[in-house]
Amino acid sequence: MIKTVLSKTGEPIFHLRAGDASYVFSSFHGFLIHLYMGPAVADDDLEYLMVRVGHDSVVPRPADTSEYWFSCDIAPFEYPANQTGDYRPSAISVAHADGSTATALRYVSHEIVSGKPAADKYPAVYADENEADTLIITAKDPADGVTFRLYYTAMRDLPAVCRRVIIENTSDNAIDLERAYSASVDFAAVGEPMELLHLWGTWGRERTMERTPLLHGSLTVDSRRGASSHHHNPFAALVGKSTTETAGMAVGLSLIYSGNFDITCDTDPFGCTRLMAGINPTDFRWHLDPGESFVTPEAVFSISGEGLGKMSRTFHRLYRKNLCRGEWRDTIRPVLVNNWEATYFKFDDEKLLAIAKDAADAGIEMLVMDDGWFGQRNDDKSSLGDWFVNEEKIRGGLGKLVEGINALGLKFGIWFEPEMISPVSKLYEAHPEWCIHVEGRDKSIARNQYVLDMTREDVRDYLFEVMSGVLSSANIAYVKWDFNRNLTEAASATLAADRQGEMFHRYVLGLYDLLDRITTAFPKLLLEGCSSGGGRYDPAMLYYSPQYWTSDDTDAMERLNIQLGTSFVYPASSMSCHVSASPNHQTGRQTSFVTRGNVAMAGAFGYELDLTKLTDEEKELMSKQVDAYHRYYNVINQGDLYRLIMPADCVNGKIGHCAAWMYVSEDKSEALATFVVIRTSIHPVYFLKLQGLDPDAVYADDNGNEYCGSTLMNAGLNLTKNWKDGDSLVMHFVKK
Ligand code: GLA
Repeated sequence: MIKTVLSKTGEPIFHLRAGDASYVFSSFHGFLIHLYMGPAVADDDLEYLMVRVGHDSVVPRPADTSEYWFSCDIAPFEYPANQTGDYRPSAISVAHADGSTATALRYVSHEIVSGKPAADKYPAVYADENEADTLIITAKDPADGVTFRLYYTAMRDLPAVCRRVIIENTSDNAIDLERAYSASVDFAAVGEPMELLHLWGTWGRERTMERTPLLHGSLTVDSRRGASSHHHNPFAALVGKSTTETAGMAVGLSLIYSGNFDITCDTDPFGCTRLMAGINPTDFRWHLDPGESFVTPEAVFSISGEGLGKMSRTFHRLYRKNLCRGEWRDTIRPVLVNNWEATYFKFDDEKLLAIAKDAADAGIEMLVMDDGWFGQRNDDKSSLGDWFVNEEKIRGGLGKLVEGINALGLKFGIWFEPEMISPVSKLYEAHPEWCIHVEGRDKSIARNQYVLDMTREDVRDYLFEVMSGVLSSANIAYVKWDFNRNLTEAASATLAADRQGEMFHRYVLGLYDLLDRITTAFPKLLLEGCSSGGGRYDPAMLYYSPQYWTSDDTDAMERLNIQLGTSFVYPASSMSCHVSASPNHQTGRQTSFVTRGNVAMAGAFGYELDLTKLTDEEKELMSKQVDAYHRYYNVINQGDLYRLIMPADCVNGKIGHCAAWMYVSEDKSEALATFVVIRTSIHPVYFLKLQGLDPDAVYADDNGNEYCGSTLMNAGLNLTKNWKDGDSLVMHFVKK
């Protein structure tokens, strides 16, 4: 619901009601002023909240307001402009024909529509007239007439607000955008000190949660790698110092974008904190001739007054139902076995069929053939781009192999790394100019490969054709779309010298275009994203691929941090988690088959080891795990997640070193809790309090024990016993 009331200056105050949250801003002498974001408030005139004192004579005032106290340097803005008296980081900066970059923004008009206007071909949240309302603000720069359309969508049943901006060059001259963020909000200093929560990492250790106090100045999480990256996820949350999983203020900001992004959190001397997200202005400059427009990626706020758990559950519901699309959004995903850690590059049709045979016996539903099936790809030194089946390995061709796999009752999936080219490849011989490079400069190489110039239509046409050829040649149900290196020397032969600043963003748009063409041409295909593990695990990729390979680190103990970190934004249904070999290939750690299964059952479940080498006992356990996953599928993949114990919570020996989480079905009729002992201690005492249940209902576990919901949540379960390192327990509850 979106309401407007008139303020004392006779201008609109906008009150967006999203679920149980309010987002309020106004036009004040045409300036778009942020007033409030948090748990729902009444439709009062909140403009009194904007008054700030503390500016001094050196701070300029705008020429067109008479209020002596109003200064752009301290006013809380919705979309802060550049060089016009606000010295904090700006959200928009336009370089004009004369080279100046002063940019201003004044409200002109607004429109409210039911639903959410489609974002053309950009990945974005979608919602119909019953799910959301959208406010579109038109603002202009009074000096040059450039138009800014600010889109705000308030979800009706979720405390989530989506924002994006369309900048239209309605001036008479060409302009260049130097900064064009998706959203910005200025939070007033109210109550307790605030902290920034974000997800950092590296290869094999993605999305590690970190909370840090704010400083007077800027904190930034960003990527300049051409991909959203392993290193920082396009997400940050502003939280109160005392905010926990279950209590306190938490505003999450998630950017639906796969390229260079920036999230800046800037706190001024008056304690006002600006949180903004958008395309990274580093290496960015976008040219707009008169009449042309630029669309920013979409940013999503999840607003919680009840802690981090609720903030995450809002993201989960929104992304699961209103971002993921197509056949596989709701269809039960197959349990798969992937041959990467089973064979690496050393496999042939016989080996795959042998794995598939054991998979079929255990009830596994799909075999995925990973890297190494094409060109002369027997290691990572060649053949990317040559997407033609290597018939020395796959004897008789792909059709025959897939028929054999299908005959065993399994679907078949295949690996591609479409955006890459090996210097040793037929494609490189034919088109050396297709890889991203700067004429006259050395090309940096990573994993023996270069990146294709996805801004080029001819490159995308080639990829579409060659991939379509493979996908139509056999009964292929799934593609793992990998991306194993970041961009360097980013220039494109197709762009003029003064437009090279568009390269990084055009790369991402080219990627989206190819993803769109493939998913449109093959609507039944299940796409799984991957980028050396989770190096491009971002909301935009979920728009095309409802599941993502969470990390190349498949060690169950390491995965606890990675999966729980990922869960701050991303739903379980998007997290691909596999049981791999023990000792683990990345860490050498030994973990029981049971615990590897229990930890992998936190999302899209599968196996990634040589099934033919399993003992009979392990095979039996595997069948049981597959069966259990089928039974628990709905509560895991459609339920609400509650993080009960974060591994980091336990390091100081609070209750030993462990992790626990649970899923509760939306109607609270079913719950599944998982408890893992990472490192035990002498005589440990373990109590586990559950969350999210119906306090008045009686729940029975699979052993027939009955508990009241309030007992499970308030008194908890007593899990005290002599656990060993790496032990774990899954508990299933059904409402009676
Ligand atoms: C990346 C992926 C792995 C595997 C290899 C194949 O590292 O993350 O899962 O597909 O590539 O080369």
